[in-house]
Amino acid sequence: MRLLAWYDHNKRSLPWRVDQATSRDPWRTWVSEVMLQQTLIPVVIPAFNRFIAKFPDVFALARATEDDLRPVVKGLGYYRRFGMLHRAARIIAEISSDGNPIWPRTQEGWKALPGIGEYTSAAISSIAFDVPVPVIDGNVERVLCRLEDIRQPPNLPELKPVYRELATRMMANPAARARPGDFNQAMMELGQRVCTPSNPDCGQCPLSRQCKARKARTQHLAPAPKIRPHYEDVRLRLIVGIRVQQPGNHQVALFRRDEKQKFLKGTRGFWYGFEDPEGPPLSSSFVGSFKHSITKHKITADVHLMEVPPAKMAGTTCPLATVTKQIPDWIPAGDVENELISSLDSKAWRLILRRHQA
Ligand code: ADE
Repeated sequence: MRLLAWYDHNKRSLPWRVDQATSRDPWRTWVSEVMLQQTLIPVVIPAFNRFIAKFPDVFALARATEDDLRPVVKGLGYYRRFGMLHRAARIIAEISSDGNPIWPRTQEGWKALPGIGEYTSAAISSIAFDVPVPVIDGNVERVLCRLEDIRQPPNLPELKPVYRELATRMMANPAARARPGDFNQAMMELGQRVCTPSNPDCGQCPLSRQCKARKARTQHLAPAPKIRPHYEDVRLRLIVGIRVQQPGNHQVALFRRDEKQKFLKGTRGFWYGFEDPEGPPLSSSFVGSFKHSITKHKITADVHLMEVPPAKMAGTTCPLATVTKQIPDWIPAGDVENELISSLDSKAWRLILRRHQA
């Protein structure tokens, strides 16, 4: 198969691919695919190396605390995926009593773990266990649109089953079935490096002979431009609660965000609410605003500082509790930066430090 021959000669050397032919490590495949869900390869490479140095196997992550994990994934965004990886690692460690990991061997088995959906289960089970299921990411979608001269926006929901059918048919080729993980990675890498959105390098493409868009010279029309997601503007009120235990010993309120929160589920950070112009006035001082994007939301965050007087620290008399209806953890001010994971919180904290140093 020309595609696999192309891959064998041209594949990038990536840290999670090292020794894949001779010694596969499902742990490295799993970690890399979770990171690659939302993050580009050049950013993933150093993060992957840092992660594997700290957690060389699934048991190391299973034993780790959240405090161990936080600094290793800080800055990558979409933190829920790492919380779920942590939970899933504990499940694998739990069922693997003698220290040898017991891995799921089917796509469905992987999908049953937290945080692993269609894409990641297909990637791991094909790459680490030779399960012949196709992986379909945005790059593969573009390759398929060109092969079939599909001149529609590639992210149209009704094209999903079309891609599945086309990719499954390609995977049925005996050469692909013999090397499902390499076939999938070859398709992704072809999309990343040859069948690029503009100016595809058809001269280098191992699939050019069977490509309908190339034949019709419509590479620039297939696929059509993506449907752009609609960005929603939202305004947040972020409250940084501070109490002074003793002079020079400030503590800062951090809250655990639950699964019902709109943003940053499962992370710990400052309390936020949605700006309600009719809402009760805050007994706090406005520090400043900043902009931040999370997925399809353009956020303007107004940062308020609420100082909690010593006499009112506890219970419902605390003004912070009146607004937040939650009990915070009080963290020494010097440790706050290390406790935060999301850029939204870090930006708010840096704004406060700047204003208070000025
Ligand atoms: N994108 C996501 N997973 C990948 C992989 N294994 N190889 C190349 N690109 C990818």
